[in-house]
Amino acid sequence: MIAGLLILGTALGAWLRYREVVIVKWSATLALILLPIQVLLGGLTVTANLQPIVVTSHLGVAMVILLSLLTTSLTSYLRQKTGRYA
Ligand code: HEM
Repeated sequence: MIAGLLILGTALGAWLRYREVVIVKWSATLALILLPIQVLLGGLTVTANLQPIVVTSHLGVAMVILLSLLTTSLTSYLRQKTGRYA
């Protein structure tokens, strides 16, 4: 829930403040798109009794979300500091 709100806030911020920076905007948007899939997989993790394919998918999507948000923060930081990554 908290993670979801933070991801939503990050995507909103990227669209409002970094609209012209393609990498920042779309990496934050990718995390937002993956969020409902992750929540579904989280629910399935419970209801499907920790079936390996479901747990592994849940971990895999989590890694992609982490990677997207890392990209968002690094590229927005570099943009702020150096003006590059337009
Ligand atoms: C932003 C949303 C979420 C993220 C980033 C996330 C991420 C993760 C990660 C990284 C793990 C560890 C995976 C592993 O050790 O293999 C995990 C485990 C788990 N998640 Fe999520 N999760 C999210 C949402 C949810 C939701 C909504 C549920 C349930 C409704 C859920 C249920 C679980 C359960 C039951 C496990 C433990 C699996 C086990 O015991 O191996 N997750 N989650």
